[in-house]
Amino acid sequence: RSVAERYGFVEIRTPIVEKTALFTRTIGAATAIVEKEMYTFADQSEESLTLRPEGTAPVVRAYVESEAAQHDPIAKYYYLGPMFRRERPQKGRYRQFHQFGVESLGALHPYADVEAIALLLSFLGDVGLTRLRLEINSLGCTTCRPGYLQMLSRMVAKVGAELCADCRRRATQNPLRLFDCKNPDCQKVLAELPTITEYLCNPCRNHFAAVTHGLDSVAISYVHNPRIARGLDYYVRTAFEVIAEGLGAQNAIGGGGRYDGLVKHLGGPDVPGIGFAVGLERVMLLCQERAAAMKKTRTFVAAIGEAARAQVLTWIERWRRGGCAVEWDIDGRSLKSQMRRADKIGAAKVIIIGDEELKTGKAIVRDMLTKTQHAVPFDDLPSTVQS
Ligand code: HAM
Repeated sequence: RSVAERYGFVEIRTPIVEKTALFTRTIGAATAIVEKEMYTFADQSEESLTLRPEGTAPVVRAYVESEAAQHDPIAKYYYLGPMFRRERPQKGRYRQFHQFGVESLGALHPYADVEAIALLLSFLGDVGLTRLRLEINSLGCTTCRPGYLQMLSRMVAKVGAELCADCRRRATQNPLRLFDCKNPDCQKVLAELPTITEYLCNPCRNHFAAVTHGLDSVAISYVHNPRIARGLDYYVRTAFEVIAEGLGAQNAIGGGGRYDGLVKHLGGPDVPGIGFAVGLERVMLLCQERAAAMKKTRTFVAAIGEAARAQVLTWIERWRRGGCAVEWDIDGRSLKSQMRRADKIGAAKVIIIGDEELKTGKAIVRDMLTKTQHAVPFDDLPSTVQS
């Protein structure tokens, strides 16, 4: 909440249940979510309702119904809450999961895309997650995408026999969805197909260039992945995903993009939109994994004697500020009890420094796994702590 509010977003809460048609009309009838993942049921008056599989369509519906655009041309909402998808459960993928998402309505400028991405990365940074990969792409618009899709259908017709039944069906109904296929044989064939990048019209090309330029100017690094298609049909132009190593197969921690045209499609004015959502369970899993990894690489410093402790105090502060997990024994107990403590906290290495080491300028570094030790010059200690 505090990160979203820093970026000027206000909270919105939409119902957990919506009319089914809201999702089929926006996410797209030929997407995995609508085809097989929605929890849909008829209520007592035979109206078809669905547990929300995502937050964008409900926010846009609420925005249109409340006629918010008449009061303020810019509306910036964030939301937190449960979403439901009937996927095969596995690590990081659940049938009820929680998203934190934002939707920024009314800004056409590429800087709105930059702002949304910056907010996403600020949030992830605030919860301690760095070393993530931002992948970004442009999916084109209603002017340039149809030509690309036609070409894609024609190419797929030629290689059709090598693809699974789902892909062959999608090639005619909704060719962009081909890229959602997880079948490794299909992926090999799909990797050979041309990407949308060469087909973008000039306005889309310029928009994408301005987004990437904006990201550069706020020091956000990214990779252009021309095969990001996203699993929802409402996207135009910018689409992005944040990928985290260490999460296994479900490594997309968040994703989003631009959806100009969606507000109009749901009966509202022609207002552009951009947003993202992150999976909070995946964020939590990753936090736990990173904490465990940190623990494993933790270094313990055993300082013997007052002079050694004074020296270690300055080093340890510098190393910790530099992002390393380092622990030591402030009270300076016996070496034996310090080694016992190092073992207890799961330290991977112990740096031992006493009067003798201060004289020679070399510390003893003990590898707690292999139980071997060697002398390391003081100047090389920072790299030992980092490794
Ligand atoms: P999405 O990529 O479908 O986008 O979902 C966003 C995030 O929700 C994913 O990156 C993932 O972390 C998490 N997620 C999705 N499915 C599951 C699941 N079964 N279990 C656990 N986590 C999951 C959207 O939902 C769009 N509405 C995002 C958006 C907002 N685009 C524009 N505005």
